[in-house]
Amino acid sequence: MWTFHLPTKIHFGRGISKTLPEYPELSGQRITIVTEKSVAKLDAVRTVIDSLNHVAIFDKVQPNPTVENVDTLSELLRNKQAEIIVAVGGGSVLDCAKASSFLATTSNPSIRSYHSEGKILTGGRIPVITVPTTAGTGSEVTPIAVLDDEEKQVKSPLSSPLFYPVSAVIDPDLTISVPIRVTAATALDALSHALEGFWSKNHQPICDTLAKESARIILTHLGKLYENLDNPVLREHLAYAALLAGIAFQMPKNAIIHACSFPLSKHFHLPHGEACAFTMEAAIRLNTPFMEGRMEEFAFAAGFNSVAEIINTITVLKRRAGLPCTLREASIDIDSIDLLVKESFHPLLNNNPKTITKTDLYRIYDELT
Ligand SMILES: NC(=O)c1ccc[n+]([C@@H]2O[C@H](COP(=O)([O-])OP(=O)(O)OC[C@H]3O[C@@H](n4cnc5c(N)ncnc54)[C@H](O)[C@@H]3O)[C@@H](O)[C@H]2O)c1
Ligand SMILES: [Fe+2]
Repeated sequence: MWTFHLPTKIHFGRGISKTLPEYPELSGQRITIVTEKSVAKLDAVRTVIDSLNHVAIFDKVQPNPTVENVDTLSELLRNKQAEIIVAVGGGSVLDCAKASSFLATTSNPSIRSYHSEGKILTGGRIPVITVPTTAGTGSEVTPIAVLDDEEKQVKSPLSSPLFYPVSAVIDPDLTISVPIRVTAATALDALSHALEGFWSKNHQPICDTLAKESARIILTHLGKLYENLDNPVLREHLAYAALLAGIAFQMPKNAIIHACSFPLSKHFHLPHGEACAFTMEAAIRLNTPFMEGRMEEFAFAAGFNSVAEIINTITVLKRRAGLPCTLREASIDIDSIDLLVKESFHPLLNNNPKTITKTDLYRIYDELT
């Protein structure tokens, strides 16, 4: 038995962001644009922003958006009586916009009550149109916002059907300016979504199919993209694969790779995609024997003869882009393994095909010494 649900309308294609002003949902609405300072300076993004008749622009989203970012944006949305949000940026921007779109409709001053304090999200939201400028998180279609509470030292996802964007406008041309290291990290984040959506205990056939296809596309094209970063066709492949991976995990949800990524980002400042890529090979090795041949099926569908081959390819892709492959390369002291193990016990582990013990986590981090 399974259910599939995705209420977000998807618009995809090179140059499609130029058609945004014609979208009926924007017509006559009080538009607020959410972005990030450095992204807003990019010519392609500037064109999108300038094409929209907006009442406000919020460009203060930090990478790994914080509870404070969400609270400040929500106040602006209330003050400006925003009727629709257009979020243009990477996953950080999209997540901040999605969480704020809900908070702004409440009288609550802080998303913290829902994020770390567990209050149930009920009520409304301001509709959000997502326009991703990275090819990785899939946040353009997921009901998830990952937030960092610096005060409480909690970085974790907050999930609600209220966070589904009304529309996602995916223009691969907006990702052409992404530098190699971010290109690699975001693509491997997408690969981790494909893997985790596929091996989650809640996996289901539609998501499985999309996960395998996403992995095939990423592993076929990412290496070529490293050598030709401004190739629009390769960018298009990666944007499509990231979208598929987003759809593939948004219902089954993530598992061990993402559980481990949170302390790696929180304490050692690894960008999200690098943190996911960091434990990927070890996580595949750990889960494969508990997947009853499904990991082999994933590897074959992605174009490999064995699981070992897919693991090797991932390592090569990480190395070529300069991503850390060992604790030392990630500037993590070996004495920090205890902390990493302790903080990797996140509820997402409940989705993992292998029941995770302390010993398993030590094994993963020991492999990285
Ligand atoms: N909501 C979800 O479903 C979901 C899934 C995975 C990850 N996330 C979260 O998303 C965040 C990461 O998002 P991300 O990986 O897209 O990174 P990001 O949004 O933090 O951006 C990474 C860097 O790339 C730059 N950048 C963005 N677009 C660019 C462009 N077109 N050209 C040049 N530079 C550009 C940004 O300025 C930033 O420096 C994390 O907080 C992560 O936890 C969310
Ligand atoms: Fe992720």
